[in-house]
Amino acid sequence: MRVLVTGSAGFVGGHVVTALERAGHDVVGLDLLLPLAHGPDAKVPEGTRLGDVRSAADVDAALAGVDVVCHQAAMVGNGVDAQDMPGYADHNDHGTAVLLAAMARAGVGRLVFASSMVVYGDGRYTCPEHGDVTPAARRAVDLSEGRYDPGCGICGREVSWREVDESVPFAPRSTYAASKVAQEHYAQAWCLLAGASAVALRYHNVYGPGMPADTPYAGVAAIFRSSLARGEAPRVFEDGGQLRDFVHVRDVARANVAAVERVVEQGPAVRAYNVASGHPTTLGVMAQVLAAAAGGPAPELTGDFRPYDVRHVVASPRRAREELGFVAEISPEDGLAELATAPLRER
Ligand code: UD1
Repeated sequence: MRVLVTGSAGFVGGHVVTALERAGHDVVGLDLLLPLAHGPDAKVPEGTRLGDVRSAADVDAALAGVDVVCHQAAMVGNGVDAQDMPGYADHNDHGTAVLLAAMARAGVGRLVFASSMVVYGDGRYTCPEHGDVTPAARRAVDLSEGRYDPGCGICGREVSWREVDESVPFAPRSTYAASKVAQEHYAQAWCLLAGASAVALRYHNVYGPGMPADTPYAGVAAIFRSSLARGEAPRVFEDGGQLRDFVHVRDVARANVAAVERVVEQGPAVRAYNVASGHPTTLGVMAQVLAAAAGGPAPELTGDFRPYDVRHVVASPRRAREELGFVAEISPEDGLAELATAPLRER
């Protein structure tokens, strides 16, 4: 199939292009080389057209002969402050709307796109008395006194985390998360308007070679890797007990290939899938594995906290396994050992 990959010069997009080509697909790339992510002197990779998903003319031209669009272009990260809001809305919300309108004009009715585990907000917890609950927002006073685990939103009692499956309702907490939820909503509306089909891939914490180095928008794996490269200890916030699922970028690329091949058989709706390793790990352990593999200083538990952070998000990888046949192949141990010496992308 001929597949248009937006964001093809990005960290995830680049690996998706490679995986699609290896699977025998004909790939067209489109990328803006956003200076915030790529720096001012970035070169356009081979096979990528320089263009903007927010430009109808750029997208119309890139869609010629395309069967499926794999939409990875986005402004990523948690954002720095409220001044980032227009940027997220412009690149992610508006860009997706322009792309979907162009696809409807061109009669391209198959979309795979990058969503995120951030759409789930705090994740999923069970209270011994109230069952499945939304946890109470973590208060600064509790966090500053080392009480990191959230309580029941009804009675305040301790809650235990549960796996997040795709039926957990949207609860975005950041501007980036709001823009990822918006993309899912636009895709749903487009499926109905255009009789089209879409797959939303809810990435968990993606890491691997070529991830952008330490920037205000970088995820924790890049931050720790950059610290170790400077000979400094990774600084682990809270008590290091927060759980995440670190999924390797080559596995994420394989999930995209599976979704591209599956969406052509899907009915007119959005189907969402967690893309995760299935091996959740605490931040403390993740930092230790990375530091040991890099031969660097042991991680430092700082007790710092960020008000917008969630405590535990643990994915259920079941639906992706059952419907896409996707099972991650790279364990966090192996993948983090590779990351310890793999090059990052400098801005
Ligand atoms: C991350 C991404 C988010 C993405 C999601 C799923 C970023 C900034 N966040 O969310 O965009 O959608 O994965 O792929 O890219 N921490 C430290 N030390 C640090 C920095 C962070 O201990 O120096 C801790 C944080 O307190 C948090 C955990 O690491 O508990 C993960 O942080 P981070 O990677 O920033 O964000 P996520 O919420 O996991």
